[in-house]
Amino acid sequence: MQLSEFRPKTIVEPFRIRSVEPISFSTMPTRKKALEKAGYNPFLLPARDVIIDLLTDSGTGAMSSRQWAGMIASDESYAGASSFYRFESAVKEITGFKHIIPTHQGRAAEHILFSNIAQKGDIIPNNSHFDTTRAHVENQGAEARDLVSLEGLDLEMILPFKGDMNLKALEALIESEGRENIPAIMLTVTNNSGGGQPVSMANIRGVSEIARSHNIPFYLDACRFAENSWFIKTREKAYANTSIIDIAQEMFGYADGCTMSAKKDGMSNIGGFLALNDDELATRCRSMEILTEGFPTYGGMAGYDMEAIACGLYEALDEDYLHYRIRSIEYLGEKLIKAGIPIVQPTGGHALYINARAMLPHIPPLQYPAWSLQNGLYLLGGIRGVEIGTVMFGLQPDGSEKPAVQDLVRLAFPRRVYTQSHVDYIAEIVINLYAQRNSLTGYRIIEQTPVLRHFTAKLEPIPDTR
Ligand SMILES: Cc1ncc(COP(=O)(O)O)c(C=O)c1O
Repeated sequence: MQLSEFRPKTIVEPFRIRSVEPISFSTMPTRKKALEKAGYNPFLLPARDVIIDLLTDSGTGAMSSRQWAGMIASDESYAGASSFYRFESAVKEITGFKHIIPTHQGRAAEHILFSNIAQKGDIIPNNSHFDTTRAHVENQGAEARDLVSLEGLDLEMILPFKGDMNLKALEALIESEGRENIPAIMLTVTNNSGGGQPVSMANIRGVSEIARSHNIPFYLDACRFAENSWFIKTREKAYANTSIIDIAQEMFGYADGCTMSAKKDGMSNIGGFLALNDDELATRCRSMEILTEGFPTYGGMAGYDMEAIACGLYEALDEDYLHYRIRSIEYLGEKLIKAGIPIVQPTGGHALYINARAMLPHIPPLQYPAWSLQNGLYLLGGIRGVEIGTVMFGLQPDGSEKPAVQDLVRLAFPRRVYTQSHVDYIAEIVINLYAQRNSLTGYRIIEQTPVLRHFTAKLEPIPDTR
């Protein structure tokens, strides 16, 4: 019998599960109590009270058997551990940068970089700063300026690279502020705060040309470099036949350095690095690393963390894995769009973003519609997402408050953790909450810190007076 070849449309999870973690299915009354106890802040919920945890894709992934094998065989020497050299060699091969400075996570790399390059009065342009990046820039008294392309601000326009930087705005900024006040240009790939949208190779090249012509160092915030490379391969014609690692290497080749949270595309539960070419800056950064992180051959990580990253960086570049990952989120997006739910389109790399301001027009931005939506998802289905909106970005350095550019709820997917039935469950809950959306009310903050308030703030629901 001669069978003809058949290519199924189903994208199968490219792994078998050998180790499982039970989920406990809480009831709505227990979630109600848990949320109240947490000051209506999902960051303060015990994880055991969550059914599907989409708070973040950071450090929450499942590791492979190869990573665990490397971890068991790690070298925990304080100085010169072989685990460090394996980590360094992987990072060097993929990024091509000369100096690799390990850190315990991404924000530690940001802290070391910005304390060494930025000062009061400076401006750091980025497509969109992530919250910790912004906080580190502002902590130096500098300004974090977001210059994402105009298309990137349109939440529903279907375009392939909405994370691109507005190159004209970048040139205008350098012209008006002067090169001497811009110690670095940054580009976040993919653009987490801007809906997880990718940046094209053409745009990375464009930013690099502008940076080089003005002699301004150019850094990538490279947390999701592999996902960005996948989008370049699948959406930028010239790269359709280029391997993911070649795309990643070309991206890094346009920059002078990067900060990295290995908790994302390093496929690790912890870790990060700062990588750069400048010898003199690297010396200063290493001195600070010793002060704040640890000796330069471990920088706040255990040998086994460095082993996990050395292996994980390559696993993140695997095409079958990237296909499954990006497709899961797109699949959820298709279901929500079909139900009429306003989401950021096209769906991003690591997360799906619901446009809470559009979904809940009866809640004004200063009553935090995205906060209300994230809490609704938790109450109805035990799903924990995160507000990317006015609670996260609305507090100004002078203590005043203004609505953030957007009020979104991000549903971020841990790597290699959830399967299609989990995604189907999420879709069902979001669609049911949409049907009950008029019952959601605004929130007010009753306790907060001046920096990164969303992590610890306590809130209360505003009674419905309609
Ligand atoms: C774009 C981006 N930059 C920086 C960071 C900070 O990394 P970490 O959480 O490891 O400190 C994150 C974390 O979510 C991020 O998404």
